[in-house]
Amino acid sequence: MSTNQSSEPLTCRVNAKGHLEIGGCDTVELAKKYGTPLYVLDKFTIKSVCAEYKKAFQAYPKMRMMFASKALCTIATSKLIAEEGFGFDVVSAGEIFTVYKAGVDMSTVLFNGNNKSFEELSLAIDLNVGRISVDNFSELETLNKIAAHKNKIVQILLRVTPGIECHTHEYIQTGHLDSKFGFDLSQIDGAAGLILDNYKNLELKGIHAHIGSQIFETKIYGDEVQILVREIARLNEKFKLNMNEINIGGGLGVKYTNADNPPSVEEIADVIISSLNSAIEKYRTGALVVYIEPGRSIVSNAGVTLYTIGSSKQVPCGTKYVAVDGGMADNPRPAMYQALYSALIANKPNSVENLQTVTIAGKFCESGDILIKNIQLPSPANGDILCVFNTGAYNYSMSSNYNRVQKSGMVLVNNSQSAIIVYRETLEDLISHDADELL
Ligand code: LLP
Repeated sequence: MSTNQSSEPLTCRVNAKGHLEIGGCDTVELAKKYGTPLYVLDKFTIKSVCAEYKKAFQAYPKMRMMFASKALCTIATSKLIAEEGFGFDVVSAGEIFTVYKAGVDMSTVLFNGNNKSFEELSLAIDLNVGRISVDNFSELETLNKIAAHKNKIVQILLRVTPGIECHTHEYIQTGHLDSKFGFDLSQIDGAAGLILDNYKNLELKGIHAHIGSQIFETKIYGDEVQILVREIARLNEKFKLNMNEINIGGGLGVKYTNADNPPSVEEIADVIISSLNSAIEKYRTGALVVYIEPGRSIVSNAGVTLYTIGSSKQVPCGTKYVAVDGGMADNPRPAMYQALYSALIANKPNSVENLQTVTIAGKFCESGDILIKNIQLPSPANGDILCVFNTGAYNYSMSSNYNRVQKSGMVLVNNSQSAIIVYRETLEDLISHDADELL
């Protein structure tokens, strides 16, 4: 089984005390030691999935792995993933700064985004970010100005919408997409022409696309590769260019619940590599450097969130609500996307006694703050520790201080040891940016 096809961290087991253990650490003890809500991240699972990606793509030596930082961006995780030989896809000054402070080789970083500010572009150039993926005509002009002012040549990709729209299980192909990201394919000749004629501080290295997230399709990647290689060949021929890079984005899905059936990393790699080989031969581009930038599938199932169960409420002839000490501020995905999660009670994961169908409610002042609807749990009670799986991606990175709640801490576990990698915010942290000036 591929790492992304497991709905739990690879080291997840029940220990002699009958508690859930991750990375050799008793999760009930972790909750006691660090408090809840607590993000727990399993180092072994992250290392395993990175190794799996590298192995799966070995057959294509010019493959370059990058991690999409938007899924999870901290100094420790950036270090960990850089150690595995991955570069980084970043989308803000904050993400650039984090990977820089983590000591990442900045030449392996790609800066992407549909509305990068002047300050963000300047920072990217100053810190020698390896590639900037330019999203639109106005950014081309701004970036060239900044680069000229700094007397630098910036190596860029053009972000394109390849005309493939992913709907997770199915996809449609259209001539062009109504997307806020990137150039329509019909616009890239204009962009290439402008770069060659006017934007002397930009060097066009290739094109970049991203077709969606939580993708279960495999063929869609093959189609994307064909389009990108075809466009590289066409532009090289038309403008006498030597572009030799494509970035195919991220998107591989993970297993949040048993209903999810994502393809393995190997399956995706096989489709991509065979499509690359055939496209390179067909369009005679010569070997291309190919970037892939997965986010979710690298960190999702390495992460769980531990909560303490508090009050519960039985609606007469209705739902039984069991409330936890976190919710939409640490995991906005159920409220935002109706995302589904699975969970266990960490202090009695094997129990089947008195199973009840309950709804896990968050503690935030919104009726929509429901983490899991209708889950079967063995008599969940005040003080029990609830472990929600697959929270490594897009949980901490999308967390907020809603209701003026401190953001949760994160610990890394490995070989029966745990270390804080993000400190829980304190009440003082919460007010530290408030000014008390009254006009
Ligand atoms: N590259 C680009 C250009 C992207 O826009 C994204 C994600 C990725 C790579 C990584 O995709 P992944 O492998 O993680 O699927 N907040 C949403 C997900 C938004 C994804 C946005 N772009 C969620 O919680 O499901």
